[in-house]
Amino acid sequence: MKAIAINASPKMDKGNTAAILKPFLEGIREAGAEVEIFYTSKMKINQCQGDLACWFKTPGKCSQRDDMDIFLPKLAKAEIWIFATPVYVDGMTGPLKNMIDRILPLVTPFVELRDGHSRHPIRESTIPGKIILVSSCGLWEVDNFDPLLNHIKAICRNVKREFAGALLRPHCPAFKSMADKGEPVNDIFEAAREAGTQLIREGLMSSQSLATISRILLSLDMYEQFRNRRAQEALSAMGNK
Ligand SMILES: Cc1cc2nc3c(=O)[nH]c(=O)nc-3n(C[C@H](O)[C@H](O)[C@H](O)COP(=O)(O)O)c2cc1C
Repeated sequence: MKAIAINASPKMDKGNTAAILKPFLEGIREAGAEVEIFYTSKMKINQCQGDLACWFKTPGKCSQRDDMDIFLPKLAKAEIWIFATPVYVDGMTGPLKNMIDRILPLVTPFVELRDGHSRHPIRESTIPGKIILVSSCGLWEVDNFDPLLNHIKAICRNVKREFAGALLRPHCPAFKSMADKGEPVNDIFEAAREAGTQLIREGLMSSQSLATISRILLSLDMYEQFRNRRAQEALSAMGNK
């Protein structure tokens, strides 16, 4: 089984998203699947030009020559797509959206009904599979992922892929601070690893593993105080009020 992971954080391996993605991918590999990871920050992916050349002029092939030339055929042949992104203003990061817009060559210009909804058929060269979201955010509540989650689920319906779940880590500044200080957050990394092995061995991730990854680390009141203290310290360190 092949998985493709896309890390769309500008912080790449040093980010909060990667802190969850890394053990998740280790679990996937441990269970015997092959994983290839890509970083949007290292790739040249232009914006879709909207000319629909990939539908009518050169069916299945984009008119632009950039890193999508290598990436898209890999995506078409992978059973598992993992989109890893921080929440930026209630959604995925821009480079990931650019990349996803460029998957249009995988579908045809025709329309079919799927579950009573008009959809574009998937080209035969693209194998069916799953999509998993890995995300982190700065604010306290897990509902900060809702707009992104809904978007990813809509993408799954659009490209006829199964939504196989999401690894979501809220209040990341506190999470990072606790992890750096060696405070007890290892269960979160362990749950991410388990989610990876479960996905490959059982075809789905347990709700318990996903709940552990998202678990509350401190009260909302404490988080407000923690963030405001941190913000003041950072401003002062820069000579600002
Ligand atoms: C431009 C920008 C926009 C952000 N928007 C949100 C947001 O809408 N909601 C939220 O909870 N966190 C938001 N954050 C915080 C990030 O989601 C959070 O720090 C995340 O863990 C960063 O992941 P990374 O370290 O992998 O890049 C934003 C951060 C940046 C830089």
